Amino acid sequence: MTVNPHQTAAARYVALIPAAGSGSRMGAAAPKQYAPLAGRPLIEHAVHRLCAHPRIDAVFVVLAPGDAQFNRCDWRGCEAKLSALYCGGETRAASVFNGLLAANDAIDANDWVLVHDAARPCLGVQEIDRLIAEVGDSEVGGLLAVPVADTLKRASAEREAVQTEGRDHLWRAQTPQMFRYRVLIEALRRADIAAVTDESSAVEQTGARPRLVQGSATNFKVTYPEDLALAELILGKAGQ
Ligand code: CTP
Ligand code: MG
Repeated sequence: MTVNPHQTAAARYVALIPAAGSGSRMGAAAPKQYAPLAGRPLIEHAVHRLCAHPRIDAVFVVLAPGDAQFNRCDWRGCEAKLSALYCGGETRAASVFNGLLAANDAIDANDWVLVHDAARPCLGVQEIDRLIAEVGDSEVGGLLAVPVADTLKRASAEREAVQTEGRDHLWRAQTPQMFRYRVLIEALRRADIAAVTDESSAVEQTGARPRLVQGSATNFKVTYPEDLALAELILGKAGQ
């Protein structure tokens, strides 16, 4: 009997960070991943956090082709794990898919890939630990998410409250989202990439059930200009 090394080797954990967006809702000239945040470009926060995590072996960042700013950032301490992939696509899902293909030689089919938005600079070590602890024994994978706390309103076209929707069993998806490499790349290959807003949605479409892991509201996605001040407050409180 031949032994497949991919099945017997212990699965590793690698991070893939899509950072090829333009940040249109931020309304600034430069892409938001390079916006100054607590003394350094926004992208440095999440990348340093993931590179510093002892369970994570490699960190791939997916950049827009022609990105000239990534190499000017401060990557001291990250050298052993960090790789830049200049293959960003039209959408976030396309960037993730291109990045997975580009990193193929460095990742085994059974390895775990933690996909994390560059635009979530306040990711805590506890959240990474919890995700790995609660999903690392599953076949498929899972994601950080927070239960919906606010009352939900369905609006009319004129922005009037038409109806109150139940919030039971509703969660807001965050990142990292963690899937086996083979599961994720196959799900994205089969999905309508233009309609995929997160990795979990592509995996759900295959019939698999990703696990929801309690995240934290502080791990929010910086989207609008006012989000920068909130992220600075959170990072300041966390002592970074
Ligand atoms: N992203 C990417 N490739 C794209 C679009 C987005 O790698 N074609 C990345 C962003 O850089 C970000 C993450 O996906 O780190 C989440 O996307 P989002 O917050 O929507 O960022 P942008 O698309 O840049 O912002 P906007 O939607 O406001 O234009
Ligand atoms: Mg976007």
